[in-house]
Amino acid sequence: MNAIALDAPSATVWPPGPSSRAFLRSALLPGTNPIARFTAWQARYGNAFAFHLHGRHFTMFIGPDANQYLLATNAAAFAQGASVRLGPVLGKGLLTSDGPLHATQRRLIQPAFHRGRIEGYQATMAAETARLLDTWHVGETLDFSAAMHDLTLTIVGRTLFAVDLGHQSGDIGQSVNAMIRFLRFRPLALFRQQIDLPGFPYHRFLQSKAKMDAMVYRLIAERRAQGTDNGDILSMLIAARDDDGTAMTDTQVRDEVLTFLAAGHETTANALGWTFMLLARHPEIRQRLVDEIEAVLGDRLPTSADLARLTYLECVIKESLRLYPPAWAGTRIAREEVELRGYRLPKGTIVGFSQYLTHRMPEHFAAPERFLPERFDPDHGETHPPYAYIPFGAGPRSCIGSGFALMELKTIVPIILQRFCPALVPGQRIEIEPLVTLRAKRNIIMRVAGTNRARWASQ
Ligand code: HEM
Repeated sequence: MNAIALDAPSATVWPPGPSSRAFLRSALLPGTNPIARFTAWQARYGNAFAFHLHGRHFTMFIGPDANQYLLATNAAAFAQGASVRLGPVLGKGLLTSDGPLHATQRRLIQPAFHRGRIEGYQATMAAETARLLDTWHVGETLDFSAAMHDLTLTIVGRTLFAVDLGHQSGDIGQSVNAMIRFLRFRPLALFRQQIDLPGFPYHRFLQSKAKMDAMVYRLIAERRAQGTDNGDILSMLIAARDDDGTAMTDTQVRDEVLTFLAAGHETTANALGWTFMLLARHPEIRQRLVDEIEAVLGDRLPTSADLARLTYLECVIKESLRLYPPAWAGTRIAREEVELRGYRLPKGTIVGFSQYLTHRMPEHFAAPERFLPERFDPDHGETHPPYAYIPFGAGPRSCIGSGFALMELKTIVPIILQRFCPALVPGQRIEIEPLVTLRAKRNIIMRVAGTNRARWASQ
């Protein structure tokens, strides 16, 4: 009797959450975004909630324990959820593949992100930033978000693929954006008809994809023809061989290249936009940062050796990534029945986690809505439990580019502040738009002011 009871399939008990009807109503409400919805449900149902739609089960677990369970301790029990949304664009690249393919590709690509390699990229990051700033003029108004997208795309192109995407940058940026917009989280997207006719979003999506593919396949063909090893990721991918000596197909190389172009520029560009918005809104913090930059660097461009001494800069960047994590949430799909916080979730359940919501938990971050870089001061700051602060994820699928991204942010921010003081153009409403990454709904527009202290003080 007992044995039968133990062996019987366990009953699924879902966390509380909105009914399908309430879910659809809120999702269709104009002006709402997933973060606003999740925040409202968190307030109502707590740090675990579920909703069910057409036989699919979605759950969201907020907090360090759930992050640890999903991303680290029990990572093997879950498949990457991003592949559902991003697979149509990125194929089976590192971000969207699973299982043995993911493990092999990760092992293969990892050396391109070793510390020494990344330090080698830093001079390019600095030079490209300086080159961009040569085109800025005091008094002009500029689309800061777009400028940061171009800069980070150029840097990824040069460092990882040894190509100059500068002149194509607008095109590529637009294509990536068009694809991401098409794939953004919309509950009805699952049921959307895919109409391939001029003027329809799916048609535009296919056009952007074809453009990107043509560009990337051209790049691969050129490099194969050259037969040279540039020491970059593209060379590594092309030279790589399986245990049985098989080379990667063009399609696999294409998937990886596109993954790095997409994952490696949009996130960092958004982080720069949010950081400069925060600095513009907090002149006292900006001033303290400028003082540090002056003391450590003077007028010199930073080298990788300088970056460790810019300790307040590190706090500012960490705090910006806490408040506005460019990767604001993620999902995993249970490969088997799992038990999380006492809930038994059947195979196939979609389990969400969110950096944005975890990073704003008052249990772990004092005054979580405030921009307080000193909370990350290694000597006098707050202590946070493991997995409470995860801008780059955690576990075997954590961001492979985190060292690259931090090096890039720590290089670009001081160079801009050495030469200019970007100020927000008054009157603009800056709102978050959580798509695949957390971006500003309308691009952030800045006025370029000089670094004259008196002028800053009067702003
Ligand atoms: C501030 C900038 C960045 C942030 C906040 C960020 C964040 C993340 C996060 C949270 C993940 C894990 C996603 C998950 O668990 O589902 C991830 C994965 C990834 N990131 Fe980043 N990222 C940044 C920059 C970069 C850069 C610069 C590159 C490449 C140059 C990059 C390449 C990747 C790749 C390839 C993955 C997939 C790793 C895997 O699944 O094995 N990221 N990133």
